[in-house]
Amino acid sequence: MISSNLIKRGLFIVFEGPEGAGKTVQAARLAEYLGKIGYGDGKAIHEPGGTRIGETIRGILLDINNKGMQPLAEFFLFLAARVKFVCDIVKPKMENGEIVVADRFALSTMAYQIYARGLPEEQCLTAIDLAVQGCEPDVYFLLLVDPEIGRNRQGLQGKKPDRFESENLDFHRKVTEGYVHFSQRLQNCVVIDTDHLTVEEIQKEVVDYLRKRFGDRFPNL
Ligand code: TMP
Repeated sequence: MISSNLIKRGLFIVFEGPEGAGKTVQAARLAEYLGKIGYGDGKAIHEPGGTRIGETIRGILLDINNKGMQPLAEFFLFLAARVKFVCDIVKPKMENGEIVVADRFALSTMAYQIYARGLPEEQCLTAIDLAVQGCEPDVYFLLLVDPEIGRNRQGLQGKKPDRFESENLDFHRKVTEGYVHFSQRLQNCVVIDTDHLTVEEIQKEVVDYLRKRFGDRFPNL
């Protein structure tokens, strides 16, 4: 059954995971499906990004020439972009009853900045809470991938590595450990191991879960 509360306040769905797990493809496919059934413009929003300020901050964070950035500076830049994302995109859309699909959110900061970069957990979690202003995702889909498989998948896409993608495999292993570690504290986190799954199989798991939980908000096309 769907609660009337959910219908009024919309839904916030987030895809998370290490590099090469397939988040971007899944977020795009889900947003496209939602657009077809009348929810939103059919586009997922990546984070950091989605606003002019967010995209500018994203450019600074991903720029390979900014290798000297302190982890703490990196952390606050992600949070600055998040405040803009929450205030200008997530909250207004949720209040309008829309479904927001995001490619990354706060779980990324826990995995990358707290766990992999080693920033102090308690203080950083408090700052993350401050930035998200109570705007917690209804569902996190955490797509996991073995870091080497992830790297190969990205290689296959022929992408030039950015500042994070150019980190070594040990860093990416830590990111994955961080995701697993922090996901265990979340109530609404669905973990999907993508190593041996096709894009279609992952999408089926996502939509099956949403149908089971939210019923006829997610009909067959
Ligand atoms: P992507 O959107 O193309 O995945 O790139 C964003 C990069 O930023 C990715 O390498 C993960 C990283 N990131 C963090 O380190 N912390 C965060 O809080 C977020 C949202 C992303």
